[in-house]
Amino acid sequence: MKIPFCLIFIFFPAIISAADVFPGSTLHASNSENSRDSPNKTFILSFIQEAENTYFAAIIYNGIPVWKAGGDPGGAVNSSAALRFLPDGNLQLVYTSTGFLVWQSNTAGREVSTGKLDDSGNFILRNGSIQIWTTFDNPSDTILPGQNFTVNHVLRSDYIRFASNTNLTSPSLVLQQPVGIFSLFDPMLSSPLTMARSSDYGEVTDDSIRFVKLESDGNLRTYSSARINGSGNC
Ligand SMILES: *[C@@H]1O[C@H](CO)[C@@H](O)[C@H](O)[C@H]1NC(C)=O
Ligand SMILES: *[C@@H]1O[C@H](CO)[C@@H](O)[C@H](O)[C@H]1NC(C)=O
Ligand SMILES: *[C@@H]1O[C@H](CO)[C@@H](O)[C@H](O)[C@H]1NC(C)=O
Ligand SMILES: *[C@@H]1O[C@H](CO)[C@@H](O)[C@H](O)[C@H]1NC(C)=O
Ligand SMILES: *[C@@H]1O[C@H](CO)[C@@H](O)[C@H](O)[C@H]1NC(C)=O
Ligand SMILES: *[C@@H]1O[C@H](CO)[C@@H](O)[C@H](O)[C@H]1NC(C)=O
Repeated sequence: MKIPFCLIFIFFPAIISAADVFPGSTLHASNSENSRDSPNKTFILSFIQEAENTYFAAIIYNGIPVWKAGGDPGGAVNSSAALRFLPDGNLQLVYTSTGFLVWQSNTAGREVSTGKLDDSGNFILRNGSIQIWTTFDNPSDTILPGQNFTVNHVLRSDYIRFASNTNLTSPSLVLQQPVGIFSLFDPMLSSPLTMARSSDYGEVTDDSIRFVKLESDGNLRTYSSARINGSGNC
């Protein structure tokens, strides 16, 4: 009998949301049940195990990490690590045993009151309605649809970096969904410049999303992966 539960969401959507994360909460690498879902469960924020005793705090789509706290390999931790959302608004990847700091969002003292993973895969720290920090503005090796890769953003994979470096005024790279074209936008360009097309370019489908990933061999590749349908939607 799920109806009362659904009514709560319908009448008080701003007050009760399963996707909100509040300062003081912690995710532990040792507990894989520990996760935060986007509202329709397309993305989750959780630890993911990639090798024996090697974990990453990640945003995951369909089992694929699309953002890693501290990047790869910088953010690789063992099972005694935790992702802590501190009361001061800082998000930290630490070893619980020693307190050793692996990575942080550097948002202490910026009046962050909530964190939320949205259905586009963006984890946003906010002060009220003001965005203070987002994973879309701090990418690791992947660009998702709707994510704007712009000046000062860097993709990292192992020790390879990909950054926008041009003489355009305000360049930004955007993966256009649903057609699968990776385009460069700039006010100086009369129309967006096509940088890459995915192999299934033009196949318009609601059942999968595409993303661009910088590989450790230095190539940028676009991927297409079937959408998982959330359970528990009202
Ligand atoms: C994980 O690494 C930390 C820091 O190197 C170490 O103190 C801790 O003992 C390790 N824990 C496990 C379970 O390997
Ligand atoms: C946080 O929000 C309040 C209310 O809108 C505002 O006065 C304050 O300047 C904000 N702080 C930061 C660091 O953005
Ligand atoms: C990307 O972000 C930049 C800087 O905020 C903005 O100027 C630009 O219009 C955005 N591009 C797209 C395609 O949304
Ligand atoms: C930008 O313009 C300067 C001066 O015209 C030139 O030396 C430089 O190579 C250009 N950089 C890029 C990335 O095109
Ligand atoms: C989840 O939300 C995204 C963004 O609004 C939407 O594109 C997608 O179709 C939704 N997925 C499901 C399973 O409802
Ligand atoms: C997800 O749900 C939509 C609409 O109900 C359906 O068309 C689609 O095939 C489902 N996709 C998967 C991967 O189950």
